[in-house]
Amino acid sequence: MPRISLVNAAQLAVKSCLQPGDIAVDATLGNGYDTLFLAGTVGPGGHVFGFDVQRQALASSYQKLLAHDLQRRVTLVLASHANLLQVLPEHVHGRVAAVMFNLGYLPGGDKAVITRADSTLEALAAACRVLAKSGIITVLAYPGHAGGDNETDRLVEWMRSLDPDQFKT
Ligand SMILES: C[S@@+](CC[C@H](N)C(=O)[O-])C[C@H]1O[C@@H](n2cnc3c(N)ncnc32)[C@H](O)[C@@H]1O
Repeated sequence: MPRISLVNAAQLAVKSCLQPGDIAVDATLGNGYDTLFLAGTVGPGGHVFGFDVQRQALASSYQKLLAHDLQRRVTLVLASHANLLQVLPEHVHGRVAAVMFNLGYLPGGDKAVITRADSTLEALAAACRVLAKSGIITVLAYPGHAGGDNETDRLVEWMRSLDPDQFKT
């Protein structure tokens, strides 16, 4: 059976919901792979907002976008995803088709800078508020690294608390 990485699985799930012209969010830019995928998928009429707390992640993502001439479709935000609601312009609230979270640390970067349960949950609550009715949120969490176990447990608890009449998990 062919093996599929979780990163690819998340992108495939998003692809099934995202149309050209849509608005999408990458809540954890990292090295920009998900943002590149989102920018390609939303097309010239769409837009992507990408968040990270590290300049290195924004620089790495920008280089990737530049290499594909997709930089004009993306707003790179040097801030925690916990600020998502304040950063996204009001006219896109309720219209965001996809929000991707790939938690943990920046591969090749400082492993001490990791996503934290409190701000991740704040960002997820904000993501739910800006999401379109048929929108999708993907979350890749990594139990096994310092802080990752606690974050994953809290996420599972949060997901179980979602109203099944409003969210499919
Ligand atoms: C596993 S990487 C993301 C991988 C990325 N999606 C990609 O395609 O390359 C996790 C990223 O989350 C970032 N991060 C940590 N805390 C954050 C926060 N509060 N808000 C936004 N990003 C954060 C880290 O700096 C790191 O770059």
